[in-house]
Amino acid sequence: MNITPITGALGAEVDTIDLARLTEIDLTNLDKAFDEHLVLVFRDQSLDPASLLTLTNQLGGPGQTPYLTGLPGYPDVVPIIKEANEKSPKSFGSGWHTDFTFQAEPPSRTLLYAEDTPPQGGDTLFSNLYKAYDRLSNGLKAMLNPLNAMHSATRSYGPNSNLQHDLENMTIGKETDEPEERAHPVIRIHPNTGRPCLWINPTYTIRFEGMTEAESSPLLKYLNDWAVQPSFTCRVQWRPGTLVMWDNRCTQHCATSDYHGHRRAMLRTTVKGDSPIAAIR
Ligand code: SIN
Repeated sequence: MNITPITGALGAEVDTIDLARLTEIDLTNLDKAFDEHLVLVFRDQSLDPASLLTLTNQLGGPGQTPYLTGLPGYPDVVPIIKEANEKSPKSFGSGWHTDFTFQAEPPSRTLLYAEDTPPQGGDTLFSNLYKAYDRLSNGLKAMLNPLNAMHSATRSYGPNSNLQHDLENMTIGKETDEPEERAHPVIRIHPNTGRPCLWINPTYTIRFEGMTEAESSPLLKYLNDWAVQPSFTCRVQWRPGTLVMWDNRCTQHCATSDYHGHRRAMLRTTVKGDSPIAAIR
């Protein structure tokens, strides 16, 4: 396995590996590289829904995927698709987020495989939340350490969401009532590395526990901007056959909406995760 880092912050391209034929040794090496680089990019892969699901099973099995509709016969394989003739330029996942943090056990990893890509654009950006924590002042770290934040699907999948309007070729469900909120630690310890990270995101984190949205919003805004500053990020350009795997326990990501008039077709799975661990309080 050849591993080439993408930026000084996170992400690596992994060569000479066939994801459809992984050995136990490959899996061990992959896990090691994943914990080090947080986002792994594999080029020239040849995957279909069945082999993507096999890979997902090898990595721990699929997570729960509410609201998004999977492929017929493959409910855990979700097509993320934008056709060339859609009215809206907005693409799925185009705000910074970590996948499904409103769940009790949010997915550990996400796998996204490119079937068809625009001639340019449609890149995905990633941010390293370990760095976002490490570079905070000791005073702010100490203040955030005992806090939980409330996460909710409301902005994306609540009664007033209009995701479906922008994404004509995906089938997206939404709640009729306000979705429940879920408390998670603001500073999360990664279960494999034992390292703390700043685990909030502007899509699903609504407020700090015990505070109103208005009270929480100034500090959340500061932290959300802080967490995605350029020196904590990398950018992945796709081509057909690229698979990217990212760690939802220590990263955020954001799709770009800069390929209006072109097709982009991806297959996505998530790997089940566990209940986020708080730093020692
Ligand atoms: C996602 O947020 O799950 C999708 C990201 C992308 O399509 O680049």
